[in-house]
Amino acid sequence: MAQIFEPLHVGTLTLNNRLVRSATWEGMAKHDGTVTPRLVQLHEALASGGVGLIISSYLTVHPQGRQNADQIGAHDDHHIEGLTQLAAAVHQHGGKLVGQVVHCGGQSNRAASGGLDPLAPSAVQSPGYPEVPVALTVDQIQEIIQCFAAAAGRIQQAGFDGVQLHGAHGYLLSEFLSPSRNQRSDRYGGSLENRSRFALEVYAAVRQTVGPNTPVLIKLNANDFMPRSTTEADSTYLAKRLVAAGLDGIEVSGGTPGSGKRLGAARPGIKIPTDEAYFLPQARAIRAAVPDTPLILVGGIRSLGVMESILDEGLVDGFAMSRPLIREPGLPARWQQGDRSPAHCISCLGCFRPAGLGEGIRCVQAHPDNPQ
Ligand SMILES: Cc1cc2nc3c(=O)[nH]c(=O)nc-3n(C[C@H](O)[C@H](O)[C@H](O)COP(=O)(O)O)c2cc1C
Ligand code: SF4
Repeated sequence: MAQIFEPLHVGTLTLNNRLVRSATWEGMAKHDGTVTPRLVQLHEALASGGVGLIISSYLTVHPQGRQNADQIGAHDDHHIEGLTQLAAAVHQHGGKLVGQVVHCGGQSNRAASGGLDPLAPSAVQSPGYPEVPVALTVDQIQEIIQCFAAAAGRIQQAGFDGVQLHGAHGYLLSEFLSPSRNQRSDRYGGSLENRSRFALEVYAAVRQTVGPNTPVLIKLNANDFMPRSTTEADSTYLAKRLVAAGLDGIEVSGGTPGSGKRLGAARPGIKIPTDEAYFLPQARAIRAAVPDTPLILVGGIRSLGVMESILDEGLVDGFAMSRPLIREPGLPARWQQGDRSPAHCISCLGCFRPAGLGEGIRCVQAHPDNPQ
């Protein structure tokens, strides 16, 4: 059976271990989307902390698909220089870096996009967001597909080790898949085949740009946990189609801001082992659909014992964490050195607060590894 600190192969990429930093918005970019020295330091700390793979925060592919003013951009050539600094910082410490690309769709924010309308498959308001988005035209859909490809090309040019499509948490790719958010009657809506078309066309355009040797992954909502929205019936179909087209790996996630905190992507109050790995049932369904594809499980991963028993069962191949690595960027090294105590993160979600104030994310809990 595979062990946590054994290498994992994802396409052409070999990771030193099976621990992944899941994409985490930092709130530290300049308002034009360029990288700052703080972001370089944060990536250095993560890479030297021993995590096998870092997935960047959600990098925007189009100005109109921005959610936060301090979100890193990949939608313009002037972003390449800063992205190159991030990749170099990670590689210098022996790490690997995959760039997550996103269009925030109906969850985009006018204040971050320079006053532009949020766009979505249909004019259906995203729960928790103030506006009804404007429904995309087919020409706009085609333009956005090309923007995903161009952003992936910039990421590759900057020296990243791969690309991850953000197909989770209610953003544009997952909106297209959702029967309640996508009410189109053209070839991008209606049947499951049509609702999958956007993600498949984005994948094909990205693959064409980056070529066969750069890994392309997706973070996929296996279930939105919202009435009449995406379930495993939808996500397993899309997973199979993407894998048939050449996708290299899947990070299994779930929930959207509209699912409510208890069923969202980042759930609070992970206290005991049975609270952990809360998308494991969904990962089982994806595993059954695409048994030979590397799967990474995210959501409440906090302890080695839980990961080891999931690995023993062969249900997934790797584990991604967000909040534990905000609190302890050196957690993988700590575990590898023999301190097996669980992640110190108490899953309070307080790290969003300073970011909301424009100060960037940080753990707000006082602790010896986080002197306040
Ligand atoms: C501060 C913060 C920012 C996040 N930003 C992103 C992001 O940019 N892209 C993404 O796919 N998920 C993002 N997430 C969700 C995480 O990647 C992850 O799916 C979720 O937090 C569950 O994992 P955890 O229990 O290890 O935190 C973010 C989560 C947090 C706490
Ligand atoms: S504030 Fe700290 S303890 Fe709370 S969720 Fe964020 S990283 Fe974890």
